Amino acid sequence: MVLSNRLPITLRRARGKLQIEKSSGGLVAALEPAMRQQGGAWVGWPGGELRGGEKLPPPKSGADSFRLSPVGLSATEVRCYYHGFSNRTLWPLFHSLPGRAEFHRSDWQHYEAVNRRFAEAACEVSGEADLLWIHDYHLLRAAWHLRRLRPGARIAFFLHIPFPSFDIYRILPWYRELLRGLLACDLVGFHCADYAKNFLDCVERLLGERVDHDALQVEHGHRTVQAGAFPLGIDYAAQEQLARAQRAAAPNGERLILGVDRLDYTKGIPERIRAFERLLEMHPEFREQVVLLQIAVPSRKQVTEYQALKREIDELVGRVNGRFGRSDWTPIRYLYRSIAPDRLAALYRDADIALVTPLRDGMNLVAKEFVASQVAEPGVLVLSRMAGTAETMHESLRVNPYNADSVAENLHRALLMSREDRLARIRALQRRERTNDLSAWLRDFLGAAQRERALLQPVSSANFEEWLGAFLRDFRTALFLDYDGTLCEISSHPARARLRPAARRALAACAARSDTDVAIVSGRALADLRRIVGLKDLSYAGNHGIEIEGPGLKPFAHPDSTHFRKRAAELARELGGIREPGVWVEEKGASLTLHYREADPARGEAVAAEARAQISAAGFQPRDAHCAVEARPPIGWDKGHAVLHMLRARHGPAWSERMRVIYVGDDETDEDAFRALQGLGATFRIGRADEPTLALRRLRDVGAVETLLRWLAARPATATRGARRRRVV
Ligand code: UDP
Ligand code: G6P
Repeated sequence: MVLSNRLPITLRRARGKLQIEKSSGGLVAALEPAMRQQGGAWVGWPGGELRGGEKLPPPKSGADSFRLSPVGLSATEVRCYYHGFSNRTLWPLFHSLPGRAEFHRSDWQHYEAVNRRFAEAACEVSGEADLLWIHDYHLLRAAWHLRRLRPGARIAFFLHIPFPSFDIYRILPWYRELLRGLLACDLVGFHCADYAKNFLDCVERLLGERVDHDALQVEHGHRTVQAGAFPLGIDYAAQEQLARAQRAAAPNGERLILGVDRLDYTKGIPERIRAFERLLEMHPEFREQVVLLQIAVPSRKQVTEYQALKREIDELVGRVNGRFGRSDWTPIRYLYRSIAPDRLAALYRDADIALVTPLRDGMNLVAKEFVASQVAEPGVLVLSRMAGTAETMHESLRVNPYNADSVAENLHRALLMSREDRLARIRALQRRERTNDLSAWLRDFLGAAQRERALLQPVSSANFEEWLGAFLRDFRTALFLDYDGTLCEISSHPARARLRPAARRALAACAARSDTDVAIVSGRALADLRRIVGLKDLSYAGNHGIEIEGPGLKPFAHPDSTHFRKRAAELARELGGIREPGVWVEEKGASLTLHYREADPARGEAVAAEARAQISAAGFQPRDAHCAVEARPPIGWDKGHAVLHMLRARHGPAWSERMRVIYVGDDETDEDAFRALQGLGATFRIGRADEPTLALRRLRDVGAVETLLRWLAARPATATRGARRRRVV
């Protein structure tokens, strides 16, 4: 089941009549033959509207080898999702041209809504066991929605454009959402190893996920996401055959330089024309000898940038032709239209040079089609280093498209190149493309998409050394840990959530170090927390930090909290009115928690909703926890305030000169601490990876926290002035 914005056909309406055209661009050029080979169904936008009684035709060749499932878009969606977010925001940004990118919240909202609709449409027409294969930058969020609709589905993604480097990608205001969209997949494929590296770099630095850069894998909660480079190939045999089948052109003595592109600013068409102009300036002997034939296929005509580009090219062509043209020779022949595949194959075959000079391009199939069509006199491929193809097409003459002089020099070199040289280069290029063709790409990608993957190895001391070693060196450490879900697994009843002996030992060993303060920060009542952890020499912050005690600290109770004790007791009685088996209320002084973990799961959400309503009505703040709703007094104090209070109280207002802070937590209430410590400390969020977090890094589970504690306990002591030796518990 393929999902892509474009279907292989595009509907147009001319004077009320429906016309069906073949879609242009690399995605369709690759996927259409792939779908003919493979079969299946294709969900996408037909580029126009079907009216009552009208139907999409079956694909021309291969009869009904695959089905088309159209997703209609409203005029607003076309404007905001397609022209807007896809083509005005993502297209320029992903092609490393951030100056051209625009960022509008309403475009983003439509993008999200359309992605959800694509996901719903795919679920309607596919079976549970189908592989769902999403394509390209229009649908970066679709997998996230699919995962919610079908948690067990096998989902793969392929990006047909570049993935930019970290410092460009992070410009996008919605960078987290898009990365999380891709991480909902099992496999994320790119054209080049560099794009996969950029993606993993962003995942690690922007989401804090653990990445294995050698295996190209991401630990995403309890799933492993595989990334990989799968360079797209063409149907080589078909292209070669098509070129052979065309009638030979009568020689006219002119040398032909060919450019074929969608009219797009990433393709570097004006830069190419200027480079050709330089050739004529620097090497006048080639005037009246060579012709540049530029084919520009109309594309995205509603986007202003594309309209401006068209005007720019028209003017440039006019200028160069006016400057160098003769009555019987026009240096640039410019066609603004699409070309039938057989005519194009003949042009590729007869061209002396293919001038493929995009400023940035995911892959570029034109370069490959040219090579496959070289069945007569061998030509030369002049290729931009900024195209994905340049990673493998070593035998081309590689150029920097921004450097007109160097492109002109390489054109000159190509025009003078001996036949032996041209032949050697083209044969090597052909050999590679013949082997790495479309079928090989399909086989590799689908093979990887179906493969079962083990979880990444658990996090190790070496990981913590890499992340924290330099950060902690020469400083005292203040370690803050949440209890439930962080130091021990969530259990069906809070009283049963016990520290494992290994965790207790590691915690005690950390607290015993003279260079380390350890504090537990929990939503439990202080007395309950102290009892259940049962270690001395630690600080404890209960009730989300409303009550605090510990070594070097004056016992603290938030002054406003006492007013809420009576009201909390009343609220507890009211909540007792929710008579549902397995639901109970934990009273914690100024706050309380309603637990529903042991209730009928089907009733959980209704119980939580009722509890939230009653809590709000009583003037408390409801907060969701794991199968529980907490009622907190509205006193503007949370775990973040508590952590900063403890640091100040113990080490003075300039604590940050001497201390390094680590905070580890697993739920929403810990996000307050992550926020308070932004820029001040190293923060870790445990557990589910699909919830957004402000923490710098994610850890899979309680086991990872134990490893962190063991590493902290075992590392060499920090020689800090005035460090106190503390008793080993
Ligand atoms: N192409 C097309 N119509 C044309 C001329 C070319 O569909 O009139 C095809 C061309 O054969 C190639 C594709 O469009 O397969 C362009 O793919 P490429 O990867 O070079 O660039 P993209 O358009 O995807 O950015
Ligand atoms: C590139 C993109 C494709 C897109 C094609 C044509 O190849 O990667 O996803 O279909 O351009 O652009 P269009 O906007 O007409 O679909």
